Parts: sequence; C-alpha cells; structure tokens
Amino acid sequence: MGQPVLPGLEAIARERGITFGSAVQSTPLLSNSEYAAAMRREAGALVPEWEGKWEALQPTEGAFTTAPLDAILAWGKANGRMVRGHALVWHKSLPEWAETALGEGPHRALSIMETHIRTVLRHTRAQIRDWDVVNEVIADPAGSDTPQEGDSAYRDSPFFRALGPRYIDEALRMSRRADPLLRLTLNEYGIEEDTPAAAEKRRRLLELVRDLLSRGVPLDAVGIQGHLQLAKPFRPEPLTALITALRQAGLSVLITELDIREGRDAPQDLRARDALVAERAYAFVSTALQAGVRSVFTWGLSDKFSWLTHDPDVALTDSRTHRGLPLDEHFRRNAMWDALARAFAGR
Ligand code: XIL
Repeated sequence: MGQPVLPGLEAIARERGITFGSAVQSTPLLSNSEYAAAMRREAGALVPEWEGKWEALQPTEGAFTTAPLDAILAWGKANGRMVRGHALVWHKSLPEWAETALGEGPHRALSIMETHIRTVLRHTRAQIRDWDVVNEVIADPAGSDTPQEGDSAYRDSPFFRALGPRYIDEALRMSRRADPLLRLTLNEYGIEEDTPAAAEKRRRLLELVRDLLSRGVPLDAVGIQGHLQLAKPFRPEPLTALITALRQAGLSVLITELDIREGRDAPQDLRARDALVAERAYAFVSTALQAGVRSVFTWGLSDKFSWLTHDPDVALTDSRTHRGLPLDEHFRRNAMWDALARAFAGR
C-alpha cells in the first residue's frame, strides 16, 4: 500500500470556494502520463499555454488550426476541468502575416481582428467562458526590466501602431458582440511588486480600466499574471490596494500566470531556495485571496515544463534552473506546493 496521496491543490482550494488551475501544454498532456496525472490531481481548471494564441490558431490568414486547442478542450471535458482562454490580442506569438496586415491601415487591422476574434470565439463558445481578450497592453515604465521609451501608457505594439489605444476598445467590443455572455478579461504583468515601476504600471492600469468603463467599453475582469521575481520587494499593501480598486470598479480579479523567478542571487542550497520561493508564493496568494481573488492559476505545475527553465527571456543564466512552480522537475510536491495549500486552506 503506497503512501496515501494528499488531496491535490484543486481539492484544497475548492473546499473554500477557490479555483486553482494551471497553464497546460497539449503535447505532454497527451503523451506524458506523469504530466497528465499531475494535471488531473492538482489543477481544477486549465489555460492553454500556447494553443490559444494567434500563431497557434491562425498561423496563415484564413487557415485556422484548432487541433492542439481542441485536444486541451477534449481533455478538460473528459476530466471535468473548465478551460479559460488566452490570448486573443497580444503583441507576441503573432504570425508574420498578421503583423504585416496590421501595418496596412486601420481598416485592414480591424478586419483581421474581427475575423480572428469572431472565428475563435465561435469555435470555443461551448467550453471557454472566460478569455484574456487583450494581453499586456500597458507600456513598461522607466525602472522596469524592459522600459518603453517615452511617456505613453500604451505598449507600442503592431495593434497600437495600427489603431492607437482604441484597438483595446475594439477588441473588447468585438468579443462582446461575438459572445455576449463571455467574461472579457484584460491581462497584465509587472503590477504585483513593491517597486516604483510597478506602482506606475498599477496607476496606468487603473487609469486605463476606469477610462474604458467610463466610456461603456465592455470589460468584466482583470488578470494579474503574477510572474514574481524574488529580486524585487513585495509588500501586501500595494497589491491589496490594486485588487480593491479594481473590484470597486466592478471588475473581477484573478491571478492568471503565477510562477516565481529566483534570480541570480538565489542561494545554492535547494531547501533554502525552495523556502524563499514558498514564502513569496504564500505572501502573494494569501494577500490576493484576502482581497477577494477567487481564481489562482500557476503558469504550469512542474519545473520540468516551465518556461522559466526553457525561455531565454526568463531562465537563469548559470547552470541552475528556476524552482518556481509547486511541483519539482520530478513532479514531486515542494515547499511552494505546501505554501499554496496553506494559503488555500486559510492557514
Ligand atoms: C510564454 C510561454 O510560457 C513560453 O513558452 C513562450 O515561449 C512565450 O510565452 N505572459 C503571457 C504568456 O501572457 O502568454 C507568456 O507565455 C508568458 C508571459
């Protein structure tokens, strides 16, 4: 008789009316039994890590390739797991044809946006009831990791260059027209920590959503990505104030992509590293829950499949790999798992 397996994070969260979910990759979901078992045990909801992006769904104009996303939807249906959508309008994972089209004038830009949004939302309507309609639309302020020149609050993206800030209105209005009951989410990063740059980005975010709502632009929720960095300070108060202000504006708030980058100063000892990650995870999630957040997604479950391990934009530059998710590379529960379990249990 093996050790009884403690209930997964989804069950612990569900006990208190919280949804815990994870980003998922269709390939290992179908081919790696350990990966699928971990998803089944720990994640009560899923968000496609790549399969819902423009380059995955419409790699060439008019040719929609939904099989990878459909595989996740089918797995979710078979396992009773809700799937949220990510991301209809984003400046990354944008195929070249779309980037070119966005440069061919506002009419062409609006036309490809409308076709993409309507086609994708019609396809996923029965299963996905919450989409990140616009992702990372705010410019990174001075002092952030990738600051944008100038004082515009808007990211200088192909969409912005085609239409100005109204591309955000248009994407949200198109989505509402395509599916009136869909939850429309604006998803953002760099708004979580106690730094001057994050404070300015929070200010820009609040100004943006208040402007959208004041003009009757449809918006239901804000996603706080939660790609945390131990190299940056964290205090509960700024995050609490942001979530409270967003909820007072009538918006739901969810954590959409939690993972934790340790950075160059991470200690060598694994237990010490895991303890620091766990401490930050607990502080962040318990603060969000106390402020009224009821959905928390990590950006994957196991370090083995984390972008923190593979993506040069975020990976550690020495021989070590980040330990920023609740399961280690062997799918073993770690100190971050314990921290999340404690936060969900309200302990
Ligand atoms: C990341 C994926 O995890 C990587 O595999 C890919 O190389 C780049 O995109 N914010 C987002 C996510 O909204 O879509 C990004 O996902 C991580 C940052």
